Amino acid sequence: MSSTRTLFLVSSCLALTLISLTLVLKKWHLGLREEGGGDDGPDADLKLDLTSEKLIQQLRERQQELLPFYLNSTGDQTGNETLNEEVLGSEQGIGCSDLSGMTVVDLLGSGYTKTVLKVLTQQGSAVALKSVNEQGSDMRTCLEDFRDPQGCQELVSFKLRKEVILLQRLKHPNIVELRGQCRESGLVGGMVAVLEPGTPLQMIQLLQSPWEERFRVCLGLVRLLQYLSRSPLGSVALLDFQPRQFITVSGELKLTDLDDAVVREPSCRIDSDCLLQFPLRNFTLPCSSSGVCEGLNQLRNLYNAYRYFFIYLLPHQAPALLKPLVEEIMNTTGELKKNVEETLEDFEKVLHEYKSGLHLQNLQPSVIKDYAVVRGVKTAGDMDYRCWPSYEQQACVLSVHNALEAAHICSSHPQCTSFSLSRQRTWTGRRLASFRSGFSQMLPDVNSTLYMRSQAGVSTAAQL
Ligand SMILES: Nc1ncnc2c1ncn2[C@@H]1O[C@H](COP(=O)(O)OP(=O)(O)OP(=O)(O)O)[C@@H](O)[C@H]1O
Ligand SMILES: *[C@@H]1O[C@H](CO)[C@@H](O)[C@H](O)[C@H]1NC(C)=O
Ligand SMILES: *[C@@H]1O[C@H](CO)[C@@H](O)[C@H](O)[C@H]1NC(C)=O
Ligand SMILES: *[C@@H]1O[C@H](CO)[C@@H](O)[C@H](O)[C@H]1NC(C)=O
Ligand SMILES: *[C@@H]1O[C@H](CO)[C@@H](O)[C@H](O)[C@H]1NC(C)=O
Ligand SMILES: *[C@@H]1O[C@H](CO)[C@@H](O)[C@H](O)[C@H]1NC(C)=O
Repeated sequence: MSSTRTLFLVSSCLALTLISLTLVLKKWHLGLREEGGGDDGPDADLKLDLTSEKLIQQLRERQQELLPFYLNSTGDQTGNETLNEEVLGSEQGIGCSDLSGMTVVDLLGSGYTKTVLKVLTQQGSAVALKSVNEQGSDMRTCLEDFRDPQGCQELVSFKLRKEVILLQRLKHPNIVELRGQCRESGLVGGMVAVLEPGTPLQMIQLLQSPWEERFRVCLGLVRLLQYLSRSPLGSVALLDFQPRQFITVSGELKLTDLDDAVVREPSCRIDSDCLLQFPLRNFTLPCSSSGVCEGLNQLRNLYNAYRYFFIYLLPHQAPALLKPLVEEIMNTTGELKKNVEETLEDFEKVLHEYKSGLHLQNLQPSVIKDYAVVRGVKTAGDMDYRCWPSYEQQACVLSVHNALEAAHICSSHPQCTSFSLSRQRTWTGRRLASFRSGFSQMLPDVNSTLYMRSQAGVSTAAQL
């Protein structure tokens, strides 16, 4: 029986691989099929010339768009540094020759422009391959306009090339890591970026996760925005700023879609030239004496962070004593009263208080007296109950600063009769505590401490 199941598993894996490879090969053929299929008649030729003229024009514009990223902010502005991505690329690890030995295991995501596959390298480690999405609307629109598969491949590839250059220039823990690239891969017919693999950001899932994890995402975002506001390329604005431009890697937020990033801040004559428009709110910034809307890029990013992330993730279930600080952040970002640097300071302050347990000062220390402590013991045969937002779906697992905070939580849950503290810690260094309504056995475990609520404690709560 188990062998048929294994066979089934193997064949479904194979099927997936085959589907993906077929997809990949189809792309490859599409990439090759460019020269044939001409129109007939001199009029058609003329029309073709005009459209190809237009396509060449667009290709030129995309090329121009890449130029600023090759130049140092201090460098000369002649634009004469050659567009030599090979030179840049040579510092990178995984290259074209490594691609052929890879196995496609999953489709991670796709958008208007790009497709991302999860693949295993020959050494068995997983990476994400980003390439042009042949079925995407960017490609479709181009093909409708120009009927030139190779030209369109090249045109759409510029977005990925731009992204790769940006990923080479911008290095930060909250930006996806570029592990390599290949300019002309037979595998997918064009540019491929090799990235660290992650999980697409699931807003719904994140909404149901503990505040600590939601705060982590927001903090990561602000740290990213602070870096972008003074990056090696200058102040970077993300024009398309939606959750789907981000992934998480072990709970840490990372930016993955950079093709809509811009570097220069708009020039201006008067303040009203520096208008930041959002659907529900407009802001006008001062025009600097040098005729630039200074700070516009970072404030655009910050307000987008507020409206796409903070509103949903930050206030809900914040620890009671941190609420004033969190409300303050909501207000200053929602009104753009502070810049990114100052906002980051506010975030780091919240993190500091949370980590140090300062927000727990008011807890009654006597509560712990209701508990008998058994060190070096874990439980088995637990009777679990669910709580929210638990780190485990079928049980009540919460992060706590110390045993006292856990005791307060247990005493506030009528079902809770005991809890264990493990050595396992969350990203802030808080400890994970498991709360339960009963257990059948105690087992030795050096890494666990059991706290049993006294009968008196339980019945007092029951009376309340
Ligand atoms: N390294 C990665 N690991 C896992 N998933 C990823 C990774 N990079 C991107 N993705 C997923 O692939 C999707 C498409 O990537 P990307 O956003 O770069 O393409 P796009 O065509 O520019 O998308 P859009 O149309 O949303 O702008 C992303 O929304 C994300 O969910
Ligand atoms: C870019 O900057 C580096 C260091 O600041 C410098 O060594 C290099 O010559 C610059 N290149 C150009 C093209 O300006
Ligand atoms: C760019 O550099 C090349 C060779 O390095 C030179 O021939 C050319 O004149 C330069 N162009 C400009 C605009 O400086
Ligand atoms: C923002 O500005 C635009 C253009 O000036 C205007 O049409 C729009 O009504 C303004 N929106 C808000 C919410 O003020
Ligand atoms: C910020 O606070 C002020 C004063 O309390 C209030 O009027 C305003 O609506 C708040 N703005 C946001 C975005 O919360
Ligand atoms: C206890 O924790 C240490 C360090 O985290 C680990 O090496 C060890 O295996 C754990 N022991 C048990 C019994 O889980």
